Amino acid sequence: MKISPSILAGDLTNIRHSLDQMDPAVVDFIHLDIMDGHFVPALTFGERYAAQIKAATAIPLDVHLMVSRPEIEVPKYFALQPAYITFHIEATHFGIRLARLIREQGIGCGVSLNPGTPVERLEPLLDEIDLVLLMSVEPGFYGQKFIESSYQRLQKLRAMIQDRPVVIEVDGGVGTDNIADLARAGAGIAVAGSACFKGTDLNQNVLDLKAAAAL
Ligand code: DX5
Ligand code: ZN
Repeated sequence: MKISPSILAGDLTNIRHSLDQMDPAVVDFIHLDIMDGHFVPALTFGERYAAQIKAATAIPLDVHLMVSRPEIEVPKYFALQPAYITFHIEATHFGIRLARLIREQGIGCGVSLNPGTPVERLEPLLDEIDLVLLMSVEPGFYGQKFIESSYQRLQKLRAMIQDRPVVIEVDGGVGTDNIADLARAGAGIAVAGSACFKGTDLNQNVLDLKAAAAL
C-alpha cells in the first residue's frame, strides 16, 4: 500500500519543517487538498502554494481538486507536473474531455467520487483515467470519521475496473485500524491526514500505516 499524507492536517504555518522531515524512501506522494469554498465549504490553497511545495520537495505530488469548475482550475496545475491531478465527477459534465487534457500533459488523471455518488458513474471513464479517488468521508475537512459503507463501494469499483491499469486511492478517516481491510478490498494508495501528522514522527506514522496494511 502506498501512502499519500495530506498536508492539510499538518502545520500550515511551518510546512517546510514537515516537508524536510519526509523521507522520500518512505512517503510515496504528498496529497494536496485544493478546496474552493464552493464545491466544499472550506477554502484552502491554490496553485501558487502548490508551486512552492513542489520547489521544496522531491516527493511526487497528488493534487486533489475539490472545486466547482475543474475545466478552469485543472490547467492551473499542469506546470506543477504532479503525479496525479484528480477532479470530482460531481463537478463536471465533461469528464472524458478533462481526463484526456490531463493525460496529454503526461500527468496521471484521477477522478474522485463523494460517498453518495454511485460508483457506476465512473463506468464510461475507466479507459480514460489512471486513478479513482474514492472518498470515505464527505470532502471538506480532515479528521472526520470513516464511512463504513466505503468497503462495499471499494469492492464494487475493483470489480468494475477488472484488469485495467487504474489504481484505487481511498481518502478520509484512514488509520491503522482500517487500512488492512482497505488493502484487502483493493485500495492501492491511502491518503491519510490525521494519521500521518499526529505526534512528531511523520515517517514512523507512515511506516506504521504500511505495516498495518500488510497484516
Ligand atoms: C477531505 C480531504 C482529505 C483529508 C484527509 O476533504 O480530501 O484528504 O485531508 O484527512 P484525514 O485522513 O484526517 O481524514
Ligand atoms: Zn483529499
